[in-house]
Amino acid sequence: MSHAVAHPVGHPAAHPGHAAGPPAGHALVTGATGLIGRWLIPELTRLDRDVVALVRRAGERRAELLAWVGNHGGVPARVTVIEGDLAAPGLGLDEEGRRLVGSSRDVFHAGALM
Ligand SMILES: NC(=O)c1ccc[n+]([C@@H]2O[C@H](COP(=O)([O-])OP(=O)(O)OC[C@H]3O[C@@H](n4cnc5c(N)ncnc54)[C@H](OP(=O)(O)O)[C@@H]3O)[C@@H](O)[C@H]2O)c1
Repeated sequence: MSHAVAHPVGHPAAHPGHAAGPPAGHALVTGATGLIGRWLIPELTRLDRDVVALVRRAGERRAELLAWVGNHGGVPARVTVIEGDLAAPGLGLDEEGRRLVGSSRDVFHAGALM
């Protein structure tokens, strides 16, 4: 007899296509490198949420941010870091970034000039 394993919606195992990016239902976090955003992202992933983090100079900062998430009890595999600038036209997003931002279920807007 085989046993089906139920995974909650949002769990990577429930989405075979997860490697191509998070499924619909993810949370968008702006200000992901800031005080609020940094602590929010691990917490969201602990709650089984997939997160898209909009970050300036994402290429340089992705590894450090994912390491932070992992070192603070979060799940880096649930986090997709995308390049974006809140002050730029179209938020500085490329086509994939527009798709991910547009398909976010929730937005945690912690990006700010302090
Ligand atoms: N800290 C608190 O105790 C507290 C309490 C209540 C409310 N809040 C509110 O929460 C929000 C965030 O506060 P915080 O303390 O986390 O601020 P913070 O540490 O200064 O972080 C600001 C974040 O915004 C990002 N950002 C700024 N300009 C950007 C742009 N043009 N494009 C993309 N990202 C940009 C920064 O990215 P870079 O790393 O690229 O600069 C950084 O990640 C603010 O609205 C604040 O009023 C904060």
